[in-house]
Amino acid sequence: MDFTLTQDQKMIREMVREFALKELEPIAAEIDQSREFPRATLKKMAELGLLGVIIPEKYGGAGLDFTTLAIIVEEVSRVCASHGVIVAVNNSLAAYPIYHFGTEEQRKKYLPDLCSGKKFGAIGITEPNAGSDPASMETTAVLEGDNYRLNGTKCWITNGTEAETFVVFAYTDPSLRHKGVTAFIVEKDFPGFSVGKHEDLMGIRATGNSELIMDDCLVPAENVLGEVGEGFKVIMHTLDVSRIDIGAQGVGIAQGAVDASVKYSKERVQFGKPICEFEMIQDMLADMATKTDAARLLTYRAASMKDAGSERFTREAAMAKYYAAEIVVEVARKAVQIHGGNGYSKDYPVERMYRDAKIIEIYEGTSQIQKIVIARNVLK
Ligand code: CAA
Repeated sequence: MDFTLTQDQKMIREMVREFALKELEPIAAEIDQSREFPRATLKKMAELGLLGVIIPEKYGGAGLDFTTLAIIVEEVSRVCASHGVIVAVNNSLAAYPIYHFGTEEQRKKYLPDLCSGKKFGAIGITEPNAGSDPASMETTAVLEGDNYRLNGTKCWITNGTEAETFVVFAYTDPSLRHKGVTAFIVEKDFPGFSVGKHEDLMGIRATGNSELIMDDCLVPAENVLGEVGEGFKVIMHTLDVSRIDIGAQGVGIAQGAVDASVKYSKERVQFGKPICEFEMIQDMLADMATKTDAARLLTYRAASMKDAGSERFTREAAMAKYYAAEIVVEVARKAVQIHGGNGYSKDYPVERMYRDAKIIEIYEGTSQIQKIVIARNVLK
């Protein structure tokens, strides 16, 4: 397999790296504390085409590939994990399913605004009693004339407080278990829709994570996304795509932690020499750099399979996400260790990176769920 990046991919990496250092690094610590959704920087990112990376130009996107999207999420997350997941969700959990499963009318109606940053997107799968097991969701959708009436509450929704376009899942026939789930495109101002509690999270704190409440929410029947009863497949396929980006987010946070540790270990002097000259520090740095590269290769492999048109890359996406989650927590922990007391303080970015890293093991399927997916595929 060839992992040489194209000239365009290299150029975009450089462009995003420069942008992230100039625009995101100065505000990353601040928004982590304030939880303010970074609309101003996201607007600039939209102008660079970063919010609709894989959407064709005719719908307002940049028309690029999934490997490029992974590179973008990685570079953004290297500096600010909140921006990283906002971009990942807008691209692969909102715009992608509308593009992949939507009708021409739905694509034309919703994608240009999601790509331009005029509106943000989010997805509503998880519920208070349906996390790892989305088929146990309790939200229902009942057809009444030209509308579906949706009732239920979604939780842990990235971009929730700010998004205006939501891909939401509900049971149109609860008796059929996963064959009775349907996907809908729901707009924020549909009657009966509201945003609930804004969550105060451990990491990725500026992502507007919230509940979504549908209380007799009326959704036009034309807003069914894909076929009625095919919603579970929409969830599973979309998560296959999106897990690649969460792998990329983990790689980015890990790379940021490696970079910060290299810099700090060269500057910090103890026992009369920079601590990078001590073998126990070198042992940690070597481990961190190697594991970050390995996670990056797994992530690019999954993305390149999607780019090559593979129908199923479930196993590869799960491996990328699982491994990136394992290593980013370890890499960030070691980064804090190398920084010593300073690493335990908000004066250094590794403290935030350690908190941000933990979510990679949890959202878009916990590491235990990824192992179930991998094992099922290995045993096939
Ligand atoms: N692609 C397409 N279809 C798929 C699929 C895939 N990757 N995986 C499964 N399916 C289909 C199956 O073929 C099956 O359909 P048929 O019966 O017609 O063949 C159907 O889906 C059900 O499959 P399973 O029996 O395997 O389903 P399951 O109930 O055992 O669940 C699971 C499998 C992997 C555990 C799944 O429930 C899962 O991934 N859970 C984790 C949920 C998750 O990741 N949530 C994240 C929420 S979003 C989020 O976190 C966003 C954010 O904030 C950033």
